[in-house]
Amino acid sequence: MNDDAFSNQVSPGDAPICVLGLGHIGLPTALGLAELGRRVIGADDDAAKVRLIRAGEPNFYEPGLTELLVKHLKSGRFEPLEDVAAAVRAGSIIFICVGTPQKANGQADLGQVEAVAQVVARNLNGYKLLIEKSTVPAITAQWLKRTIVRYSSGKPQPGDEPAHSSSAPAFDVASNPEFLREGKALEDFFHPNRVVCGVESDRAREILTKLYAPLNCPIVVTNTSTAELIKHAANAFLSMKISFINMVSDLCEKVGADVGAVARGIGLDNRIGPQFLDAGIGYGGYCFPKDLRAFIHLAEEHGVDFSLLQEVEHINQNRVERFVAKVRQALWNLGGKPLGLLGLAFKAGTDDIREAVSLKVIEALREEGCILRLYDPQAMPLTQRLIPPTDKIIYCTSPYEVAQGAHALLLLTEWEEFRGLDLARLRNLMEVPVLVDGRNLFDPDTIRQAGFEYFSMGRPDTKSAGLHSTPAQTK
Ligand code: UGA
Repeated sequence: MNDDAFSNQVSPGDAPICVLGLGHIGLPTALGLAELGRRVIGADDDAAKVRLIRAGEPNFYEPGLTELLVKHLKSGRFEPLEDVAAAVRAGSIIFICVGTPQKANGQADLGQVEAVAQVVARNLNGYKLLIEKSTVPAITAQWLKRTIVRYSSGKPQPGDEPAHSSSAPAFDVASNPEFLREGKALEDFFHPNRVVCGVESDRAREILTKLYAPLNCPIVVTNTSTAELIKHAANAFLSMKISFINMVSDLCEKVGADVGAVARGIGLDNRIGPQFLDAGIGYGGYCFPKDLRAFIHLAEEHGVDFSLLQEVEHINQNRVERFVAKVRQALWNLGGKPLGLLGLAFKAGTDDIREAVSLKVIEALREEGCILRLYDPQAMPLTQRLIPPTDKIIYCTSPYEVAQGAHALLLLTEWEEFRGLDLARLRNLMEVPVLVDGRNLFDPDTIRQAGFEYFSMGRPDTKSAGLHSTPAQTK
């Protein structure tokens, strides 16, 4: 961002904004708000995480985040704290950005959200607007309200200020769901397609619309349940697009069509849109799998038969086996063969491996007795912690080291740096030059001309099935 591009939007006397939870959503949100000119206190009860953040080192990789963190630690507009109650007392606008992991039955676990609401209740020293940013099921806002009423008249806890009483100050609850993508979190914060504000009072609406006014984007104002549903519906719809194109991809392989060209052909229709039509090994990450399950659970709880979403999930789960079958088809027997894996993160631009498809591929190939040589530009430390190195799990320092003696390279994450690899060098290092591309990153002809046997997802052997249309030709 340009220096102070958005400052002067607020009067200097405005109270700091409080962001609770400094993870993949909380930290970019806190720093985004600081860049908009607000003073922000970011609190997290994980003391080690706060120590790192205070030292200018986020505990996860997100492009541009470290720079913005350092900038706003210096400007004094961002203050990290481990005392959540103190942060709540200092702010009147409070964003909830804590985790909402899933329970064994697929339901969202809202324990951390309730814990935050209790802290707010016990530290209600003036008007507070409590805003859900974490993805939560519809009617969570109603539960937050009840929790605050219940606990603001409860017994004080150690460390609380004795501010609360039976005549506790007013508060509002709002839903302002997050649509940030990991790897593009700051870009999405500053240039959102829309901001959704679910409110139940004029005061909450005014605060939120004023806060986001500098972003110059459509602001959709609804009630809280609608805003909560928008978030789940958006993630479910995007997951559905991915599963849809993955099935089209399977069909393309049967009839000799090219899924990339099909995606382009349908995506140019404004009603469909070109995004989230990249076929491959399926979606992963902390959000889509978990949010889809929570949405399915919500529908079931309310007696709504949304089996369409169960099918979306089922298709996605089958992608790993589909990919491993492709590897088998390429190599025949897998047992004992060294294979190189390019990419571990659930997608490019992040070091996040939560629900990454790569982990499932690793598990499946380990069961086949393969020797796996692994590389990712960002996600190696986290993967190593989860899957320690052995004589059959070898962490490498570059894609070329991965290729050394491998019988195939399997591309699992679409990192840009893989696109520019020296193909001749890779081929010469490999025992057998086979490339199985789970993300359709490479151009088939280029790879084959470089001497590889190439397998990708939903694409024919030659370019003949493609439309060959360029943006200019389609006008
Ligand atoms: C997703 C949503 O895109 C965000 O809007 C939302 O805020 C976020 O979840 C959340 O709920 O917090 P994210 O999980 O960071 O963001 O990643 P995406 O870019 O959406 O990708 C999700 C998965 O789908 C990845 O595994 C990706 O590789 C896969 N994908 C994506 C495909 O397989 N094909 C595509 O065409 C697009």
